[in-house]
Amino acid sequence: MAITDDIKDRIDIVDLISSYITLNKAGSNYKAVCPFHSEKTPSFIVSPQRQSWRCFGACSTGGDVLSFVMKIENVDFYTSIKQLSQQAGINLNDSVKHQKTDFLYEINEQAALFFQESLNSSSGSLAKNYIDKRDLTEKTISDFRIGFSLPSNNTLLNKLLSSGFDEKQIEQTGLCKIARPGQVTDFFWNRIMFPIENKQGKIVGFGGRCLDDSNPKYLNTPKTEIFDKQSILFGLNKASNSIKDLNCAVIVEGYMDVITAHQNKEKNVIASMGTAITEQQVNSIKRLAKDYILAMDSDTAGQSATLRSLESAWHVLDTQNNLFQNNLLNLGKPPKIKIAALPKGEDPDSLIKNNLSGWKTLIENAMPYKEFIIEIVSEKNDKTTPEGKGQIINALIPTITSSKSSIEQEHYIEILSKKLQVSSDAIRSNIGRASKPFSKNLKRQKKHNNSISLSALKSDPYKTENFIMAILLQFPQSKDQINAPETEIFQKTENREIFTSFLNSNTIEELEIILSPILKEQLNYLLSLKIEPVSEFSAVNTLNQSIAKLEQVHIKNMQRELLSSIEDSSQNPKEIEKVIVDLNQKLKISLNKYNQKTS
Ligand code: UTP
Ligand code: MN
Repeated sequence: MAITDDIKDRIDIVDLISSYITLNKAGSNYKAVCPFHSEKTPSFIVSPQRQSWRCFGACSTGGDVLSFVMKIENVDFYTSIKQLSQQAGINLNDSVKHQKTDFLYEINEQAALFFQESLNSSSGSLAKNYIDKRDLTEKTISDFRIGFSLPSNNTLLNKLLSSGFDEKQIEQTGLCKIARPGQVTDFFWNRIMFPIENKQGKIVGFGGRCLDDSNPKYLNTPKTEIFDKQSILFGLNKASNSIKDLNCAVIVEGYMDVITAHQNKEKNVIASMGTAITEQQVNSIKRLAKDYILAMDSDTAGQSATLRSLESAWHVLDTQNNLFQNNLLNLGKPPKIKIAALPKGEDPDSLIKNNLSGWKTLIENAMPYKEFIIEIVSEKNDKTTPEGKGQIINALIPTITSSKSSIEQEHYIEILSKKLQVSSDAIRSNIGRASKPFSKNLKRQKKHNNSISLSALKSDPYKTENFIMAILLQFPQSKDQINAPETEIFQKTENREIFTSFLNSNTIEELEIILSPILKEQLNYLLSLKIEPVSEFSAVNTLNQSIAKLEQVHIKNMQRELLSSIEDSSQNPKEIEKVIVDLNQKLKISLNKYNQKTS
């Protein structure tokens, strides 16, 4: 049995939750004041039958025992398993002997501690002076766990060896390198050390800055099994709450930009670490907020390579338009990418430090990126001659037509028309000529309607969600084409975890690497499901239908739970009625989506 199932078998959700809060019987369920937000009337319901919990109030979230512990203890999946297995009397060590990557995190953690100690030692005084010169407070230094790598060959290596790690393990973290055959030395040397955390707050790598003007200015941990600069955003763990609260993320380039921003209470700021943001990075934040502001220095912003990479990395946000919306008041508000071009010679670090209100104004006035591209392309090219105008229009067609909504397209056409002093009809006819391939797609869509057999899953209580996961794993590319579901609709935390990791990985191999070993059993089960061979296109269709179905089941379950908790009159019926009506509305939206996909 998978350890997760073992835990769920042994720990009753009512017992578990009652150890945190007081539950009162309500119909066949239990009710309480939600522990995750402040409220007066209880809207938190626990269902013993389904072994699930849900807040029908402001958080509108729910799940099983695992997700409850994750949320109430504010810990990651693995830590919740650790805690619950202890409570259930299960020996976790037996289950996770092959914890493949844990030592990498442990070594990085030890290294961070050692760098911090070194900064505070007498050998760290020059480094300390440097940091002081950059106006970082003691609190910031300790919050970001800034440290110092000593100017010597192998102090860190020796420290780690004496902690019981072997050379092979240490090499795998990138903290040491083979200088000559048979000679291993520290990778970082005489640098200010910035630990880089993953989303869960675990240290996966470091950026190290030299103390003077020498080159390279920054050295970063090379690619390892747990660190890839391309897929990590610096500061994300510290920024994610603020990003969610403000529904907006600000993306800058450098370590110091993020650190100074946070020190000045600008907490939704994260960094791409020098390069243009990648699709993987966008994927890791696309669920957090609606607005994304890229702060760029004015030279970078004007380069066509930057503009191109903007379009290619951020296109994944377009699928976000189709997301199942949890918040009815926010229905369909599309995500926005904006550009804030910094004044010449400034970076966010310097601007925030010298002119905080200037920074705030800059962010407030950031320009939607398509308008920005239109502006830049028109300004940088010849818009005085008919030939020049034609060139500009042609160059901008992909930008304009990548908006699926024709209202949006019209908006950009109008802007361009004003800028170039060309009639919008002329622009439209240029676009018409350039966008023929569309009909090809239509033909492709008509051809298929293969169904995929569900029979393998008949007796599985999590049939639909396992089925969805199985097809997704069989057709990993389809993830960008489906109506991406909220992870909430998966009842099993295991599926939520695998799904989230799946969205953050490019291949199944990568997924296997980043996935906690505890989830391997569920992953193997999903991979083993016999699904009739289908084309990728019909997979997308089937996925959309099954996702809609799961959404509907999820909503109906919520309604059922609510109704079965009314018995006493303590609950205000008006409030329950409102939630039920809201859920009906959601159900209708989901049904509509389903119909659109099948017609
Ligand atoms: P910058 O050159 O803009 O440096 O690089 P910075 O962040 O302003 O640093 P300070 O203020 O001079 O200390 C932006 C980011 O690009 C990456 C780092 O992540 C850096 O923060 N970078 C830069 C490197 O990885 N290597 C380099 O040699 C330079
Ligand atoms: Mn800087």
